[in-house]
Amino acid sequence: MSADIVLQTRDLKMAFGGLKIFDRLNFSMRRGERHAIIGPNGAGKSTFVNLVTGLLKPTAGHLLLDGRDVTDTTPHQRVRYGLVRTFQINTLFPALNPLESVVLALCQRQGLARPSWRPVSRMTSQIDEASALLNRFGLLDAALTPTQTLSYGEQRVLEVVLAFAMRPRVLLLDEPAAGLSTAQGVALFDQLSNLAGETTVLFIEHDMHLVFRYADRVSVFAGGDMIAQGTPDEVRADERVRKAYLGS
Ligand SMILES: Nc1ncnc2c1ncn2[C@@H]1O[C@H](COP(=O)(O)OP(=O)(O)OP(=O)(O)O)[C@@H](O)[C@H]1O
Ligand SMILES: [Mg+2]
Repeated sequence: MSADIVLQTRDLKMAFGGLKIFDRLNFSMRRGERHAIIGPNGAGKSTFVNLVTGLLKPTAGHLLLDGRDVTDTTPHQRVRYGLVRTFQINTLFPALNPLESVVLALCQRQGLARPSWRPVSRMTSQIDEASALLNRFGLLDAALTPTQTLSYGEQRVLEVVLAFAMRPRVLLLDEPAAGLSTAQGVALFDQLSNLAGETTVLFIEHDMHLVFRYADRVSVFAGGDMIAQGTPDEVRADERVRKAYLGS
């Protein structure tokens, strides 16, 4: 296997009872790239992310991370290996502010339990790193605002910051711009493109403008298979993709 493949599936098969989602899916992603998965509703995009994080077990086949077979590992182990997805919005702590939330995520990454006698305000190195991260994603002004009073868009960005604080090898984002305005979506993806080289990003996105602007490569899922993979231009020019998805 080429050293620059970070994530790969081998003949991955998934069915929910009689409903076949994938039959023999052979997907691969290169280190450091921003990779988009597109496809019609119900094509299995979210199912694929759930298989990658370990939330779902495949019916058959294998998943390799950096050449290591992780098919039988738990979601928790995969996080330790560096496969991190965005935290769902309901997992944000509503009463904490973004600074406190990111400090806690950094403590978790560093394996530090935060003893109750040690207030967050004394964790200077974590506070510095958390502030830098919030600044990078445009959330520094909201750092001390309780999460529950942040706008929806700011909460979505905070989810990405919390995931990124884990220093993922592969960051998985299922529709990160859903519910955001166009400007907020563009701002979020601008931040993600600054991560180039540091981390590999796999994202599901319905907004073709964002996909074609920010993805280095695109995989197209439809009808239980990956029907195309390539650069945005290659995918856009692919006859099957036009028929199955782009509707032209
Ligand atoms: N836990 C489950 N049990 C049974 N069927 C499921 C389950 N999860 C998903 N499905 C079905 O699997 C198919 C693929 O769903 P999935 O959510 O992966 O699609 P998707 O590509 O993410 O779609 P969307 O673009 O709408 O988010 C759908 O037909 C869905 O109804
Ligand atoms: Mg989905």
